Amino acid sequence: MAEPKKLFIKTYGCQMNVYDSERMAEAMGGEGYVQTARVEDADMILLNTCHIREKAAEKVYSELGRFKPLKAENPDLKIGVAGCVAQAEGEEIMRRQPLVDLVVGPQAYHRLPDLAAKAATGAKALDTDFPEEDKFEHLNARPKAKRGPTAFLTVQEGCDKFCAFCVVPYTRGAEVSRPAARVLSEARDLVGRGVREITLLGQNVNAYHGHDKGLAGLIWALAEIDGLERIRFTTSHPNDMDDALIDAHGTCEKLMPYLHLPVQSGSDRILKAMNRKHTAESYIRLIERIRAARPDLLLSGDFIVGFPGETEQDFADTMALVETVEYGQAYSFKYSARPGTPAAEKQAVPTEVADERLQTLQALLSRQQHDVQNRMVGRRAKVLFEKPGRLEGQMVGKSEHLHAVHVHAPEAERGDLVSVEIVESAANSLAGRLITS
Ligand code: 5AD
Ligand code: SF4
Repeated sequence: MAEPKKLFIKTYGCQMNVYDSERMAEAMGGEGYVQTARVEDADMILLNTCHIREKAAEKVYSELGRFKPLKAENPDLKIGVAGCVAQAEGEEIMRRQPLVDLVVGPQAYHRLPDLAAKAATGAKALDTDFPEEDKFEHLNARPKAKRGPTAFLTVQEGCDKFCAFCVVPYTRGAEVSRPAARVLSEARDLVGRGVREITLLGQNVNAYHGHDKGLAGLIWALAEIDGLERIRFTTSHPNDMDDALIDAHGTCEKLMPYLHLPVQSGSDRILKAMNRKHTAESYIRLIERIRAARPDLLLSGDFIVGFPGETEQDFADTMALVETVEYGQAYSFKYSARPGTPAAEKQAVPTEVADERLQTLQALLSRQQHDVQNRMVGRRAKVLFEKPGRLEGQMVGKSEHLHAVHVHAPEAERGDLVSVEIVESAANSLAGRLITS
């Protein structure tokens, strides 16, 4: 029997790309490819790319350049670019880097096997359409192999919000929700294969409308699945946090007390320029309502500093908002002008100023992260074990609040959900002790 062909996939960017990469690997599995972790062994290399900030896109080109010797050694090697850089740059990628054989945008993955077949003939293959059909529906079903205890499940793609800095509405297109029935059947299948926690993904997941009761309706329907213990979702827009979803945070036991709710800035002037369509005050009021429903909610966020026109006062407003809200976890970025977005036309804040603001903000966010972590010490948590730790007999998993927790548990297995007492808080994780009674 012929040796199976080997596929190497490297994933950049968000969790939606992680999910897409899994699905692409499965689709190519149907074409006789097996995945390899060694790029030197590959018959096909796929970079699943991110275009959200300039650095992310540039990394792709420098990585592609490094494949030159591999292609010299193996002329049959096919190199593909998928994801948001593929969507944004299309044919330009092949012009800038002739090593590339195949370019596939994030809405065309179901056509990947056909594109690979075309590339195999020596032709260049490209598809960056936004077809009507659901790409996941047409991708091969997930194979029935056993899975780890946690999984991502994309339920919504695209964004209609058009924040002035963001490429997502252009690279991922308009908001599309997968029908609840299809999501539920995929979730049941995952649970049947060992998954106990599902994170629902979408660029704007709380705008999900594939269920007549929105994302909350989908969450309640998922909560009915026996064996599914935990539900999470990411990422959300403040304006789509409806009452039913807030209520679910208080009443749905399987919905974990963690919410990623980006605000981007604490200045109303900047929020307006960003086209966010909410104010700092309305965001703070919203957080109060969600915390009233679920007092121990751990809040996560995204911030951009150095957006065009951001003054010292605007930045001070962001710092004040962070002080008021207190985040358990956050991502903060220096503004990066993205071609084609409205903000890219505006005068940038000097780099040194933006760098300094980023450092100041990150110091505060990191202090808050540690404060929140430290307050977990002495409390009980439930940990879903995902893998062995570095120490003998140790397992690592996530708490309800998505903290990584190390536990000495020599008898335990991956997928066990155990009760622990948190005994220590380290830089980026917690330590817990099994509660046996
Ligand atoms: N520059 C910097 N950060 C950005 N983000 C999105 N676009 C840009 C940009 N042009 C950040 C936002 C968003 C996160 C996914 O990436 O904070 O929430
Ligand atoms: Fe981008 Fe704004 Fe849509 Fe988020 S809500 S994906 S930041 S346009």
